[in-house]
Amino acid sequence: MIKAGVKEILESGDLLKEFECKGWVRSFRSNRFIALNDGSCVENLQCVVDFENFDQTILNQVNVGAAVLVQGTLKESEGSGQRVEIEVEKLSILGEANPEDVRKTILSPKRHSLEKLREQAHLRVRTNTFGAIMRVRSKLSFAVHQYFNSKGFNHVHTPIITGSDAEGAGETFKVTNFNLDEIPKNDDGNVNFKEDFFGKETNLSVSGQLEAETYALGLSKVYTFGPTFRAENSNTSRHLAEFWMIEPEVAFCELDGNMDLAEDFIKYVLDYIQKECNSDLAFLENRLLQEDKNKPQAERAPMPLREKIDFVLKNNFKRVSYTEAIEILKNSKPNKKKKFQYPIEDWGADLQSEHERFLVEKHFKCPVILFDYPTNIKAFYMRLNEDGKTVRAMDILFPGIGEIVGGSQREERYDVLLEKMKALHIDPEELWWYLETRKFGTCKHSGFGLGFERLVLFATGMSNIRDVIPYPRTPQNAEF
Ligand code: 4AD
Ligand code: MG
Repeated sequence: MIKAGVKEILESGDLLKEFECKGWVRSFRSNRFIALNDGSCVENLQCVVDFENFDQTILNQVNVGAAVLVQGTLKESEGSGQRVEIEVEKLSILGEANPEDVRKTILSPKRHSLEKLREQAHLRVRTNTFGAIMRVRSKLSFAVHQYFNSKGFNHVHTPIITGSDAEGAGETFKVTNFNLDEIPKNDDGNVNFKEDFFGKETNLSVSGQLEAETYALGLSKVYTFGPTFRAENSNTSRHLAEFWMIEPEVAFCELDGNMDLAEDFIKYVLDYIQKECNSDLAFLENRLLQEDKNKPQAERAPMPLREKIDFVLKNNFKRVSYTEAIEILKNSKPNKKKKFQYPIEDWGADLQSEHERFLVEKHFKCPVILFDYPTNIKAFYMRLNEDGKTVRAMDILFPGIGEIVGGSQREERYDVLLEKMKALHIDPEELWWYLETRKFGTCKHSGFGLGFERLVLFATGMSNIRDVIPYPRTPQNAEF
């Protein structure tokens, strides 16, 4: 008797061997055919019960959603849906599921909308779609670590509670151990954080970059991959209040090297899942093709999912300066009839996602790396160019997603950085430790942040970021 999971059994194809497998019932047809799924792969294991040999009270408990154990022999299947099946010799119920109750949930075997699945986030991983998405997510995460490890990077666990706002955008969630009605105030009415747990105002990290920089200036090549938190009130299909970010940081590296690293890294992880997740990607691709059938031509995906991934793998990312992009956008319309909702008039404007997507999807038709942005629309830590008005920033724009990566060469010159902080009203005393790295052996260095969920969105072809993270945190939504 070999104890094995569904995937292992299906892949082994070891006919006439005896297996034991545990999983959840996806369907039970004709009192005879159990479709068993344990989350190891999108395929079910067909288990055939000769009902005359089994106690009907047990068979009555083989309901959709129940956890069961089967033991039996692997045989070639006579049915057309599968190559092999288990001829069940022993069947036990490990955990019941009442059909009346199941019918009220998304476990009931019919098509449920993604919105409905979100309302039952604790159960949705038992659907084929979410099983596939979460396996792809897991493989991508593994590939991230594999890539950086193979390139000699050290993984740094940057703190989640910090005293700084790395992006300077004021979108932080505060951390406190005060009871809200007992917050001590100073005479001026402001909160007295000296009495708070850390003795100062703290928040959840918006980015591990600043701490990662200090580690790169000692270990040379580092990356952090952790949860980050933003209290930006943007209720879009691309934003989460809690998301995971991959942030490499490299000493003695300038912007070109940073672009090379980002492109090589993204291609590596996408290539990895093309090889490792083929059946999940095939399932997701087919799901999208079915969905597209109900959509008008213009809204359909331009190419099937795996072809889209291949397209990214095979093409160089187009490198374009912000200034060139503005010229292109000034002279373009998203289509014959329509102007951009926010037409680009002047150099210096920040790009909206309609502009980013136009550049990628309509103009260049490939991933684009935009660089050298105006100083005043980017964060304080980016290196000022010789022109005095642009910084060595880079954003990577992806089809269907828009911005997937934000990064830059960092300002390594103490005086320039200090001036910049003052100009942006960032208190140098708060970031004294960050500034100090520019005094002791400063060097050119660069890094970037890739939003992990945006990568998973691209890789799975899903269109809402709430569907690629187990428990999405968005404004007014932290039910689970
Ligand atoms: O462009 P951002 O804000 O850059 C930084 O945080 C830098 N400190 C990174 C660095 O250089 N080390 O964010 C980086 C990426 C974005 O390109 C996007 O993919 C993702 O993080 N991102 C979000 N993903 C989901 N929800 C949000 N609210 C996001 N905000 C940013
Ligand atoms: Mg950005």
